[in-house]
Amino acid sequence: MTVKSDNSIKSIHVHYNQFNYALNKLESCYEGIVNGDDSRGVAILGRSGTGKTHLLNYFHSKYPSSRGNDGTKMPIVYIKTPSSPTVKGLVEALLHAIGDPLFNKGTLTEKSTRLVNLLKRADAKVVILDEFQHFVDKGGRKVQYAVADELKVIVENSGVGLIVSGLPYCQSVIMSNEQFTRRFSSPVTLPQFDWSVSDDRANFKGILKAMQSSLESISMPDLTSDEMAFRFYCASGGLIGRVANIFIQLVKDMANKHGTKDATLDDLNAAAKEACFDMPLGIDNPFSRQFDVKPTKEVTHRVMEIGDERGVVGLER
Ligand SMILES: Nc1ncnc2c1ncn2[C@@H]1O[C@H](COP(=O)(O)OP(=O)(O)OP(=O)(O)O)[C@@H](O)[C@H]1O
Ligand SMILES: [Mg+2]
Repeated sequence: MTVKSDNSIKSIHVHYNQFNYALNKLESCYEGIVNGDDSRGVAILGRSGTGKTHLLNYFHSKYPSSRGNDGTKMPIVYIKTPSSPTVKGLVEALLHAIGDPLFNKGTLTEKSTRLVNLLKRADAKVVILDEFQHFVDKGGRKVQYAVADELKVIVENSGVGLIVSGLPYCQSVIMSNEQFTRRFSSPVTLPQFDWSVSDDRANFKGILKAMQSSLESISMPDLTSDEMAFRFYCASGGLIGRVANIFIQLVKDMANKHGTKDATLDDLNAAAKEACFDMPLGIDNPFSRQFDVKPTKEVTHRVMEIGDERGVVGLER
């Protein structure tokens, strides 16, 4: 596990096991295209806050665009899938990302042809679509087949690889089309760490260690002790994005607390409560002195439900 830090939680990249595994898959998709393999697809799945966008941004930053005599080269074209995408909306979003100033001009056929030509001219190797669950209609659970088909045609005609990322249910888009399914390798799921799994515990502690060591402005007890790590696990649901939010809140709070850099359990409790919208009852004061730090099956089960949007009334998926 390595960490690059510039003293701020937002700019560190923790290379925990699954992050490295997913990154390798993205790299080999890219390399495959460079080496002339058939277009391949990779799906990065995970609950909200598992770090999908962070991973994609990190990967994207390794292959920046460059301007040369023969125009702009863009190895990676990255978009967030428009919400409720139409074929036109998707094509325009991709045209815009590749730098076409006339992205909304012309008929759909003209735009699609232009997109394929621009992808070739920019020597694009991979197209990334984040928020891929937008291909599934929210209310009706229906896949936007026409848009998915168009995407397949664009990818095929331009010879790029396709990386998609989203909430786990976006798998249904890939499964909905046999030709899509055949082109995708097995998906990678970024984890919600589970305290009852020892590898997960070790990785979670590694993340706490990396984040703690990037915060030179604050001193705290050792967060990798079983007790502190379990408190953080309960406060975050084992989701790296929520751990980051607690630290970000703590940094703000400590900046307002002049004269001390020592963060106490009370400071951590206040930061956790402020940072999280949906702390389950009974686990809503995870850093208080009264909090029972014995990891029971029941508590672990409830913690793993943090961030599960299926549990929210009115959100049927
Ligand atoms: N590998 C990592 N190293 C350091 N920080 C990370 C890492 N992964 C995620 N984070 C932190 O977690 C935050 C949330 O991650 P991110 O936005 O990527 O989640 P997500 O899975 O895309 O969620 P959503 O599904 O809601 O879009 C990031 O802003 C970042 O602060
Ligand atoms: Mg995201």
